[in-house]
Amino acid sequence: MGHSNLLSNLIETMPIPVSCSVTATPTLPTKPMPGTYGLPLVGPLKDRLDYFWFQGPETFFKARSAAYKSTVFRTNIPPTFFGVNPRVVAVLDCSSFSSLFDNTLIDKSDVLIGPYCPSPNFTGGTRVGVYLDTTDPKHSRIKNFCFDLLKRSSRVWISEFLLNLDALLTTAEADIASSGSSSLLVPLQKCIFNFLCKSLVGADPKVSPEIAENGFIMLDKWLAFQILPTQKIGVIPQPFEELLLHSFPFPSFLVSSDYKKLYEFVEKEGREVVKLAEDEYGLTKSDAINNILFVLGFNAFGGFSVFLPALITTVGRDKSGLRDRLRAEVRKVMADKTELDFKAVVEMEMVRSTVYEVLRMNPPVPLQYGRARSDFVVNSHESSYKVEKGELLCGYQPLVMRDPVVFDDPDTFMPDRFTGAKGKELLQYLFWSNGRETATPTAGDKQCAAKDFVVFTACMLVAQILNKYDDFECDDGNLAFSKLEKKTESVIV
Ligand code: HEM
Repeated sequence: MGHSNLLSNLIETMPIPVSCSVTATPTLPTKPMPGTYGLPLVGPLKDRLDYFWFQGPETFFKARSAAYKSTVFRTNIPPTFFGVNPRVVAVLDCSSFSSLFDNTLIDKSDVLIGPYCPSPNFTGGTRVGVYLDTTDPKHSRIKNFCFDLLKRSSRVWISEFLLNLDALLTTAEADIASSGSSSLLVPLQKCIFNFLCKSLVGADPKVSPEIAENGFIMLDKWLAFQILPTQKIGVIPQPFEELLLHSFPFPSFLVSSDYKKLYEFVEKEGREVVKLAEDEYGLTKSDAINNILFVLGFNAFGGFSVFLPALITTVGRDKSGLRDRLRAEVRKVMADKTELDFKAVVEMEMVRSTVYEVLRMNPPVPLQYGRARSDFVVNSHESSYKVEKGELLCGYQPLVMRDPVVFDDPDTFMPDRFTGAKGKELLQYLFWSNGRETATPTAGDKQCAAKDFVVFTACMLVAQILNKYDDFECDDGNLAFSKLEKKTESVIV
């Protein structure tokens, strides 16, 4: 199924993609790859402690890049478990990072979160689609199934999102009236969970009080035990974080009873989509349910749970008048419309640019990996480096998205960066979805299947809030609304 069909009933007018200008690569000097893995055991341990403890991920990559005067270099990446090879080639500029999108060069088997791959027991024994390379025929079947899920969900995606968002906002208004602030931590996750279950799986969490109350917490725990060994947490003091959280893989039995409950919920309440996966995409029932749960819990719920808080707080903490500009645009577009839909959102250039800029400054999935299928040459902006077959490339997006060769004033949040013709040209360098923003995900690549849904949902969030309220503010420290100012007719836009 072509992905272009997928969105057609959801988005009638998509922004016209800028064709990626494939400029002839000038011949670059080939240099020996800088960087070192250090001594066995000692090198990986030192890098691990730098990454989690002494430097943190951003300084870890920045400091090495500065020391080697290169955006491409060899280093170790944690975790350092027995049996995990921590050696990677870091790619930290837009040019070298984009090698990761070339699936003739890059094998994506089992590298979703790096050299460490959580046990398939976390996913009911199924090796789910996200861990499969494009050469595996099962990958395209599962990805096409995912496109189909999105296509079907498009019938209710907007209404379910707005319904759950409005419920959140109503509660937040009451909280602010009574206590001056409204934490978003739990309500936002509930909103995301409910809307995704209904739209993607066709399953209403309300039918099961336990899933309705705790479903999102079950997913949080399930996600945490898979990715904890790769994450800097910072809530427990060192060296305890190293000893307790980063020294061994967590066993799946810690979350297996929750997983079983979620599995049964999808099996029963999502039986229509499970049957679709069996009948149309040749998946076994358990493979179908495990893949649905992964897309729902890891990709969709996990992704939105990271991205939407960053979006809301970036806009809600702004002191430069951004909300006034956004509100003016939203109200202008909505002046002759009765409801907010994807067509309306397409007209909101400033809202969309703001969403893109938040994705640039805070890429929700910061690390991307891929293994060299054979020896090849990776190009930074200045030099070429030989990569050997089997080496693991590791792109750290927060630095790649601040590549000074591509982005002017890269460390500054510029919400209108992606407006106008120049802004459209820049979209080819926005990589949050594991692909270019100007590309369309297909069954033959590894780009996020829901790339366009994510951007439009985020735009809807901003538009709905600023259409409903004259202003809102977020707490400077916590994920909380501190102000929601009801719409008055007197506001001049
Ligand atoms: C803010 C939300 C989201 C973010 C930030 C996000 C990000 C990403 C990224 C970075 C990847 C590539 C991972 C890699 O291979 O390195 C990916 C893959 C994927 N995403 Fe998303 N995603 C989001 C939401 C969603 C949603 C809502 C869905 C589906 C309903 C989805 C479905 C997928 C699938 C199926 C893949 C695997 C593609 C493949 O194996 O070819 N994502 N996503």
